[in-house]
Amino acid sequence: MCGIVGYTGKESVTDQLLNSLELLEYRGYDSAGIATLNGETGKAKLRKCAGRVKDLRKLCKKDKKVSTCGIGHTRWATHGGVSDTNAHPHRNGDVLLVHNGIVENYEELKDHFMLHKELKSQTDTEVVAAVLNRFYHGNPHEAIRETVKYLRGTFALVIMFSDQPDVIYAIRNVSPIVAAYNENGTMLASDVVALGSSAKKYMVVPEYVIMELHKTEIKLFHLDGKPCEAEYIDIDWDTTRSGKGSYPFYMEKEIMEQPDALKATMESRIVDGKIDLSADGVPDEVLKDCERICVVACGTAMHAGLVAQSLVQSKLKMHMSVEYASEFMYADPVIDDKTLVLAISQSGETIDTLEALKYARKQGAKSIAVINVKGSSIARESDYVMYTAAGPEIAVASTKAYTTQLITLFLLIGRMAKVRGLLDEAAEKGYLENLVQAPDKMQEVLDQRQDIHKIARQMLDAKDAFMIGRGLDYSILLEGALKLKEVSYIHTEAYASGELKHGTIALITENTPVVATVTQTKLKDKELSNIREVQSRGASVVLMVKDGFELADAEYADVFTLPAMADEFMVFPASAALQLLAYYVSMDKGLDVDKPRNLAKVVTVE
Ligand code: G6P
Repeated sequence: MCGIVGYTGKESVTDQLLNSLELLEYRGYDSAGIATLNGETGKAKLRKCAGRVKDLRKLCKKDKKVSTCGIGHTRWATHGGVSDTNAHPHRNGDVLLVHNGIVENYEELKDHFMLHKELKSQTDTEVVAAVLNRFYHGNPHEAIRETVKYLRGTFALVIMFSDQPDVIYAIRNVSPIVAAYNENGTMLASDVVALGSSAKKYMVVPEYVIMELHKTEIKLFHLDGKPCEAEYIDIDWDTTRSGKGSYPFYMEKEIMEQPDALKATMESRIVDGKIDLSADGVPDEVLKDCERICVVACGTAMHAGLVAQSLVQSKLKMHMSVEYASEFMYADPVIDDKTLVLAISQSGETIDTLEALKYARKQGAKSIAVINVKGSSIARESDYVMYTAAGPEIAVASTKAYTTQLITLFLLIGRMAKVRGLLDEAAEKGYLENLVQAPDKMQEVLDQRQDIHKIARQMLDAKDAFMIGRGLDYSILLEGALKLKEVSYIHTEAYASGELKHGTIALITENTPVVATVTQTKLKDKELSNIREVQSRGASVVLMVKDGFELADAEYADVFTLPAMADEFMVFPASAALQLLAYYVSMDKGLDVDKPRNLAKVVTVE
């Protein structure tokens, strides 16, 4: 959480920082700030405020003097409320600092260094700035080295020393920092999307390495002062794609990009009509030898795991557990060297998923990470990585990352079934014939988005809503409900519809909105009868039903027909419909669709 940036070069820094911060607002958006250092006058300037980057932009408008070196921050508050004072950067003496992460022992540090009187904010970050300043006697490396010895927790620290013109220093533990250069200067950020469109390569700054950004070069040093070699990765995301284009919100753009993203994710993994994971380097033995599978993930990524669970059970006849990464290691999970752990994450930085993965590996498990962001912490921590080709996902509510995670999992499970002798050639062919249709079936739903928009209009005044279904429908709806609640603020619960009568049906009254998906042949009749139970209590039911399923003549508030695929693949068209529903409700309520309140896209605090 929190986005950090830095730039030093030939160009005026203020606009560069503000533009980059805007691209990082998905990481937090309750306050923002920048600090600039003028190489000629030696003066540092600090501008920060509660609110969005657009508020900071207004604040910076009056600034006349042009600086070419600076750092910036957009915040998701953890320690200390949302206020101008708690906004970053923080200054103490010669030190100007922005920070992403949490320094857990900041209270101890306050006592140890007797900082209480000099601190103005309630943040852990200002404590770090003060400690850095205590150790700063003209030697930045020494100050950084001494300070990090005292820090417990996660941090990406980006520092300017007011008497070191044009240079930015950075160091990190867990929280990400990437860096790049172009002909005009050097820059760093929390995420590659904020590095500017002209950079062709970037590096992930290694942990506990001091980075120096100079106007024309980037240098890395180990803590003992020895130089460290930088490893650059090609930027193969079209960073200009990270703009909204003609769409009013990123969420809509990202929903619409799904068919292409799915195709791109499948492309290199289907060779001569067969699933081929050799480009991912996942050895068949790993898929063959494991006795159980365990998914660790959070939020939407965890919901992708739940969909995969049904597939694992039906195709692999294996046990698979799907765990909230945040609960995983505290539940004493049974993990051993016969366990294959799948860590699923868009950002590759979610701290709970990272910690769960590390824990499982310590118990001897093998691991495969399903990740969108190349070179991210979870990708580097895992034995093997399968990258999704979603491209940059900016809206806080995940859409294309989810469906590309799904298609990656379908490929992985298909390959597992093959190497375990559970899928013969003909069955593999049939499986893939279905899978490659997923982009087109999603496209069919996207083409009918105006029908879903009409359904959404009926839900604008709802305070509560329910989503009901069984089996795979229930897993699909857990994600559908998360989408609706996070972007529309309508309290939405997904419920396994057979469970309703054990309590939740008490909440169904006249006109309670209920969304039901009916996509599974073996469950259809039972699902329809559960729908009738809520209708009898006055619920207003929107039905999303697989094309070809016969309906008795019950009255529905609305019916949306989902293009038919084999049952296990219905998650693709159904998810597109549910995503659009959430999107239109939020948009029509006039909400900030891409930045729902209190949320951040990358969750780097436990
Ligand atoms: C946050 C995001 C969700 C995401 C979850 C896990 O809550 O808002 O969209 O599903 O984190 O993130 P990850 O990057 O690990 O997929």
